[in-house]
Amino acid sequence: MVNAERFIDKTIVEIQHEVGTHQVVMALSGGVDSSVCAALGAKAIGDHLNPIYVDTGLMRKGETDRISAMFGNLRLHIVHAEDEFLRALTGISDPEQKRKVIGERFIRVFEREAKKTKAPYLLQGTIYPDRIESEGGIKSHHNVGGMPLHVEFEKVIEPLRDLYKDEVREIARVLGLPPEIQHRMPFPGPGLAVRIIGEVTPEKIKVVREANAIVEEELVDRYVPWQCFAAVLGLGTGVKGDNRVHGWIIAVRAVNSRDGMTADPVEIPYNILRHLASRITAEIPSVARVVYDITSKPPATIEYE
Ligand code: XMP
Repeated sequence: MVNAERFIDKTIVEIQHEVGTHQVVMALSGGVDSSVCAALGAKAIGDHLNPIYVDTGLMRKGETDRISAMFGNLRLHIVHAEDEFLRALTGISDPEQKRKVIGERFIRVFEREAKKTKAPYLLQGTIYPDRIESEGGIKSHHNVGGMPLHVEFEKVIEPLRDLYKDEVREIARVLGLPPEIQHRMPFPGPGLAVRIIGEVTPEKIKVVREANAIVEEELVDRYVPWQCFAAVLGLGTGVKGDNRVHGWIIAVRAVNSRDGMTADPVEIPYNILRHLASRITAEIPSVARVVYDITSKPPATIEYE
């Protein structure tokens, strides 16, 4: 474990040294790695840092507002690309194709915005396991896009390159970042799209976003799982009032894991599961049923697509 205070002091000096008087751009997602990276960058080079946050429209409820409140003191540039992503995803239901489209779109939007800043340097929150995984070819699909940027940067600065996740969390704590950032659950690059089976539509995004918010509210503090979320599986029958209806089927997933490579479902008491089902169906009227996923990884993955 690195000594956080010493790491912070040393890294600030290193970033200042590497950057000199240049401008630097970075992609801020709000996850712990990019947040720590932005906080270190801001301490080191102040307004020479140009963080860009892309709202893909596939973020969790309130995420964009949270990010802008948290990083509003930096020169945070929020790009509203919701329509652009939705348009690109229209008619696509193949899981790999969805990931590819989102990755490509992300890269294009980031390139476009990065060019506007005219910054020659890129700051990135790559951590040690990211480097190992991409060198070994495992989880290549986990890099959003998984393809090179076309913007030519003179230099790429990766201050967290030798750290593990728990070390990054400790640095977040010492930097005084809010606890919700320090303890952030992993959130996939393609966002809510991998929690929607089949085509991504505005209706499904709305449903899955609300359901995710309820699941997080009920389960995060109670069980502190590695991850918990909701996915929308498709349509099934239900009864509302006197009518048979077709409503969404929501799967709730909560898993414990050490590294995301294997995972086990959290043993949630039945009364809590029943409460979740009641809340989700009451608060999202278009949902007809709620199921709890009891599959480990392997054979299932954590996300649905
Ligand atoms: P799976 O679903 O493969 O997920 O069991 C393992 C862990 O990785 C996260 N995940 C992703 N993270 N980009 C990411 O940054 C992605 O495309 C992606 N897909 C899955 C997932 O949430 C879990 O923590």
